Amino acid sequence: MGKRLVIAIDGPAASGKSTTAKSIAKLLGYTYIDTGAMYRSAALAAFRAKISFDDIDKLKDMLEHISISFQISADMQIVLLNGKDVSKRIRDADITKLSSEIATIPIVRHKMVKLQQQMGDEGGVVMDGRDIGTVVFPNADIKFFLTASTRVRALRRWKELPEGAVTVEQVEKDLVWRDKNDSSRSVGPLLKADDAIHVDTSGLSVQQQINQIYSQVKTKINSEDMT
Ligand code: CDP
Repeated sequence: MGKRLVIAIDGPAASGKSTTAKSIAKLLGYTYIDTGAMYRSAALAAFRAKISFDDIDKLKDMLEHISISFQISADMQIVLLNGKDVSKRIRDADITKLSSEIATIPIVRHKMVKLQQQMGDEGGVVMDGRDIGTVVFPNADIKFFLTASTRVRALRRWKELPEGAVTVEQVEKDLVWRDKNDSSRSVGPLLKADDAIHVDTSGLSVQQQINQIYSQVKTKINSEDMT
């Protein structure tokens, strides 16, 4: 068997990262690591413990004891925070906003990046996030940066939500706020790595997007096998 790669997929909210990353991981028999779910879990842990994001000592203590892991159950990936399934709760709007806020705190990023590096150090991973190709795995074997227009992203996310839960305008407003917050932080901002392949998914179907990325990954794997 050839080398098992580290594949980095970054991009703004709802740009199609997780759908793509999940499928590519399945096709290759790799592990999918959803780093957004890790920031979401950290936000949920702090929220539940009523820790103010200004209280660095309490955050530090929380991070020392936190356990975040992934498990496959009935073909779905579930996220465990301190052993409990939080997969649904971490997608709620309040935790989504808090995840972007907690992700600006350097000690939080430091801890998450360290965990992510440990999870991927043997290769055979598809990792998606904001800073995978720039900070977590600057030497990843192949990097993608996915984008799509704000409207397309808002519509995609809105369709995943229960009917009538929120308007598409509200979803768009939240996405714009989060992108701005994620791009403007000083540590690990949302940024395209110089050597990342840019894919604009606005006009692509899910299948087209997966095919396009998978074929580039296969080319990379074949070229690695020849060396
Ligand atoms: O799925 P979606 O694109 O909406 O978000 P996500 O990937 O689950 O990420 C949730 C939040 O976590 C983002 O808004 C970022 O603030 C943060 N995040 C980060 O800072 N760094 C990462 N590598 C991944 C996520």
